[in-house]
Amino acid sequence: MSSIPRGIGLYGSEYSTQAQRIGLTSGAVPIAIYGLGKMGLPLASVYAEMSGNVTGVDIDEDVVRMINRGECHIDGEPGLPELVSEQVERGRFEASSDSRKVAKDSSVHVVIVPTLINEEHEADLGALESVCADVGSGLDPGDLVIIECTVPPRTCEEVVMPILERESGLSRGEFGLAFCPERTSSGKALYKLREAHPKIVGGIDDESTRIAEMIYGEITNNDVIPVSDATTAEAVKVFEGLYRDVNIGLANELGRVTDSLGIDTTEAIEAANTQSYCNIHTPGIGVGGHCIPYYPYFFMQQVPEQTPLIQTARDVNDSMPGFAVEKLLDGLSRRHTDIDGAKVLVLGVTYRAGVAETRATPAAPLIEELQGLGADVYATDPLVDVTEFGAASVDLENVTDDDYDAAVLVTAHEQFQNIDWNEFADMIVVDGRQALDLSDTDHYVYTIGVGPGEMREKGRVGQ
Ligand SMILES: NC(=O)c1ccc[n+]([C@@H]2O[C@H](COP(=O)([O-])OP(=O)(O)OC[C@H]3O[C@@H](n4cnc5c(N)ncnc54)[C@H](O)[C@@H]3O)[C@@H](O)[C@H]2O)c1
Repeated sequence: MSSIPRGIGLYGSEYSTQAQRIGLTSGAVPIAIYGLGKMGLPLASVYAEMSGNVTGVDIDEDVVRMINRGECHIDGEPGLPELVSEQVERGRFEASSDSRKVAKDSSVHVVIVPTLINEEHEADLGALESVCADVGSGLDPGDLVIIECTVPPRTCEEVVMPILERESGLSRGEFGLAFCPERTSSGKALYKLREAHPKIVGGIDDESTRIAEMIYGEITNNDVIPVSDATTAEAVKVFEGLYRDVNIGLANELGRVTDSLGIDTTEAIEAANTQSYCNIHTPGIGVGGHCIPYYPYFFMQQVPEQTPLIQTARDVNDSMPGFAVEKLLDGLSRRHTDIDGAKVLVLGVTYRAGVAETRATPAAPLIEELQGLGADVYATDPLVDVTEFGAASVDLENVTDDDYDAAVLVTAHEQFQNIDWNEFADMIVVDGRQALDLSDTDHYVYTIGVGPGEMREKGRVGQ
């Protein structure tokens, strides 16, 4: 078996699969990862661990400098700082901001830059298009381009491929393109990349799928699942996201009827979920982050006439901060307190507990609506600065120094469990995450998806 020469591409290679695999894991195949953010840096690090010949590319010079010093700019990822520092120190991983040069020197190009939506809810693929133009400028016959960032189905066919062909002067069949969705999430990225979920791979042609399958076979300890084509692989990732959004929308709709039916909806959901076909999520104050609230639009924009259910779920989920305000107003009216001039404390502004990410957080529309009604809004969050939302910042350590007319819990940060609620004068509390047990206090509590305090005492929460 002849070994594969350094720098050679794998697409259309005449070397045996075994020789290609050795080439890949011995560093003979130079690999570039474009985008070194929350997902890109963990991904580049596990690629470096596998191949020993990885260059990461980022437009942020500070990120590049930090990585080349062996430092990690992403917080909250167990094992990542150690892995980055080890791979950089051993010369297996370096970073650069010169994407065109790196593209010229690499044979496998993995793209994981942000894919956003604009105000009109259309996909903003600007970063992806810009990286693809740079990759195309350095593309050689035999190279493979892998797109990992989440995109609307048909993006590889209709956006990426034309850019690569235009910039490289090459034609389809001379280089490969595969979509391999990043299915992991922040927080335990290394563990998840290495083993948590099967890896889905779908190429623009069979040869692209074959190489992507071989590469991820070396990266993950889990299965690699090839699908028919890149568009199917793109759909897989979007389906995962919109399934969760629709499921949460259903849970939220059920959560909204808890008062009309006089039941603790979450108790009913948990019991219903003991049937193996039933897997309803938990009602809450809303969906945030850069994934679940956005991906449904990636799909809806492609087939807008055919997605009424998905749009309705989006609308239900977006209505939940308003539902929390309704419940807060109900509570205040019991105490004959006007919202105009009321002091309201918001607990948590990040979209998820323990994660310093505020994109699409329900805290933003909640605070805006409360302020629109004349409330004085205060907020506290152990992870991020709350003032960007226009709320007055309260130090969590001293949160009980002041009294409030009402409080709304948006984020179930574990630090909130240490609050001594008996130190506050009686107030109205809306728990948006089923995170508080205030049964030994005199506060009036409404828990979304459970109902008012009486329901909690009757039901399962807090037992
Ligand atoms: N974070 C997650 O939990 C997660 C999970 C699954 C999928 N994804 C997907 O992965 C992709 C990246 O997400 P992320 O969370 O890592 O984003 P991020 O915002 O944390 O990081 C993106 C990085 O890309 C860099 N970048 C932007 N434009 C660039 C360009 N033109 N060239 C080179 N670098 C550029 C930025 O400087 C930044 O460092 C998105 O499509 C996202 O939907 C993210």
